[in-house]
Amino acid sequence: MEQNRPQWGTRAGFIMAAVGSAIGLGNIWRFPAVAYENGGGAFFLPYLFALLTAGIPILIMEFTMGHKYRGSAPLTMARMNRKGEWLGWWQLAISFVIATYYSVIIAWAISYSFFSFKLTWGDTPQEFLLGDYLQVIDAGQFGGFANGVLLPLLIVWIVALGILVSGVKKGIEAATKIMLPVLVVLFLIVVIRALTLPGAMDGLNAFFQPDWSKIADGKVWVAAYGQIFFSLSIGFAIMITYSSYLPKKSDITNNAFITAFSNSSFELLAGFGVFAALGFMAQQQGVPVQEVVSSGVILAFAVFPQIINEFPVANGFFGFLFFASLTLAGLTSLISIVETFVAGLQEKFNVSRTASVLIGGGLAAVISLVFATKGGLNFLDSADYFINQFGVAFAGLVEVILVAWVFKELNALKSHADEVSDIKLGAWWKICISVITPIVLGYMMFDNIRQNLAEPYGGYPQEFINMYGWPVAIGALIIGFVFMYIKPFSKNKGGLS
Ligand code: ALA
Repeated sequence: MEQNRPQWGTRAGFIMAAVGSAIGLGNIWRFPAVAYENGGGAFFLPYLFALLTAGIPILIMEFTMGHKYRGSAPLTMARMNRKGEWLGWWQLAISFVIATYYSVIIAWAISYSFFSFKLTWGDTPQEFLLGDYLQVIDAGQFGGFANGVLLPLLIVWIVALGILVSGVKKGIEAATKIMLPVLVVLFLIVVIRALTLPGAMDGLNAFFQPDWSKIADGKVWVAAYGQIFFSLSIGFAIMITYSSYLPKKSDITNNAFITAFSNSSFELLAGFGVFAALGFMAQQQGVPVQEVVSSGVILAFAVFPQIINEFPVANGFFGFLFFASLTLAGLTSLISIVETFVAGLQEKFNVSRTASVLIGGGLAAVISLVFATKGGLNFLDSADYFINQFGVAFAGLVEVILVAWVFKELNALKSHADEVSDIKLGAWWKICISVITPIVLGYMMFDNIRQNLAEPYGGYPQEFINMYGWPVAIGALIIGFVFMYIKPFSKNKGGLS
């Protein structure tokens, strides 16, 4: 298998694919709302702390693991230590869950790109979104399909799986090389326009105004870690898989810094753009910015269309640019999310890439239909929250504890990274991974679980959370163990070689 392992064509190709994976819906759709909900300006402290002490060190660690052990996440973990395979499968299962709803948000973005031309959402975009388009019903019910979502969802899966079938170099690398630069140009135009609208500065002030009362709250810190992990694509198998396709001689540490800083720059850019636009809308309506800010889904798909309506000129054009950016950012990330389980299944069952894409990706596509139902928005909101807080962030925590303390791998990984990289790792790297992240994230996770048990997330009924919240996160963990026991790599003849 080793000789046939696909490889990236160039260093730039790998960096673009990694940056393309990192920059996604998380940056445009999630970050501004999460930052605002968790204390605005005060969120930056936990965010920066999480980026510097967990995000970048773990990214370097995952790049090194993938490069050293050259396998999908479960195989990489199994090669590192036979007892680690389940963690890889847990992370793959998390990726699988994310793919199922992530694809649906991209489908909405495709619809909205077309709606932009005629401002189809009319004068009351929120009613259009929840009523005409998604036809939302009470939490916990399915209620048939929201028909408008089905065709764009089919397109999303055809494009994503088509790219994946074409392979790592001819598919993922070639597609990202086109999509990422186009995304950056489109999005820059949108942000520059937003920053030059009247009222933009009020929006930025609201974004940066710190609410210090939130800083001691565990929820805010877990939200910051969750955002960093989701946004950098770490903790759910992606970067391990991508770096496993690097040639033997290739830089690791510098590539990780480039990836992380590109991602955070884009994230801040999105924050500026979104809040400048919100400031503009608040000014048009003569209300404070706080009154026009909403949570993730509503922000992108209801508040933004409203802002587009109020643009002085070329509304349709700017609307299209925004939603096309969202679509492109989402697609380059979706292919990386699906690639994790495509790679894992291919190695586990020794099947062709095409078979693995069609079976793994096909199954994700079928399950994504749940989120295309009229009750889909509620399921999506809850799945996104639970899989991030108790999936991605939790798996990231378990990963650092296992690698640093149980498998005691940090010295070996450091030597490996130093051997191939321009920048050598200092003691800070080990301290961040083995001490700071486990202590801070561990404590915050505990506090967050306590709060979530005391009060159901998002004001949903307890029964809804018990059926569609916790089980999503816990189910991913169980699937991890189940897959570990089906033909484990360590017992499979030649599986670890
Ligand atoms: N890293 C991807 C995002 O931010 C998953 O959306």
